[in-house]
Amino acid sequence: PVVATAELVASASLSGLGVAAFNVITLEHAEAITAAAERTGLPVVLQISENAVKFHGGRVEPIVAAAAAVARGASVPVALHLDHVEDEGLLRAGVDAGVSSVMFDASKLSYEDNVSATARITAWAHGQGVWVEAELGEVGGKDGAHAPGVRTDPVEATAFTAATGVDALAVAVGSSHAMTERTASLDLDLITRLRDAVPVPLVLHGSSGVPDEELRRAVAAGMVKVNIGTALNIAFSGAVRGHLAGDPAVVDPRRYLRPARDAMTEAAAHLLAVVADKEG
Ligand code: G3H
Ligand code: ZN
Repeated sequence: PVVATAELVASASLSGLGVAAFNVITLEHAEAITAAAERTGLPVVLQISENAVKFHGGRVEPIVAAAAAVARGASVPVALHLDHVEDEGLLRAGVDAGVSSVMFDASKLSYEDNVSATARITAWAHGQGVWVEAELGEVGGKDGAHAPGVRTDPVEATAFTAATGVDALAVAVGSSHAMTERTASLDLDLITRLRDAVPVPLVLHGSSGVPDEELRRAVAAGMVKVNIGTALNIAFSGAVRGHLAGDPAVVDPRRYLRPARDAMTEAAAHLLAVVADKEG
């Protein structure tokens, strides 16, 4: 069934576990992630980024409706979230389309402008019963470059949370978006200090570049929502590439989308278990 992101994050946080949030680009992503959640018996967040919406022509309804329909049929709790939204119109359209939570990303703005934009959006979203994640510091790497970004300061994070009223905070602690090698090393001491200072659950972005053991340590240190995108795309593209190489005359996309979806299910099931099991 579809549940609210707030509920999944709150219960993970209470149990000291992580909850995985995977990026959905195609229908096959939503199917694979949900199948993985069912296989592991774990709840999951299906998240749709502004970039994914732009890929689908800027219309948020079709992709949210597809993810919601897959989620409704699931035997485990599945939440719907909008990820890395900078465009307020898209954010409102996403809420109308039925997501229970949004990440409003004003992390590229100055601290003051990030606070005022995030506070305004959060007040509006809370009026709609929508849970809000924001980012402070810069995880970086979203445009392909593996820039180290700016780490999140615990004192500033505490002030930011109080000034904006956000429900969760994405923090920059050493990961970087879109890494295709799992070589990121996180500042676990910074995660602990953020966990102790910030009253809302912490969100790890760019988790595809983080090795399993490091993910477990990050959750044990205080990360709650763990965002994963690229890892599934590596699985998807690798399977498609493999199939096309062995079957150059193929025409029916189901021939290669089936192994691609299966490969994403395997990858998602593995990561779901890693994130929900801090002891390893
Ligand atoms: O918001 C989405 C995540 O931060 C995904 O990052 O593609 O590097 O795993 P990733
Ligand atoms: Zn991210």
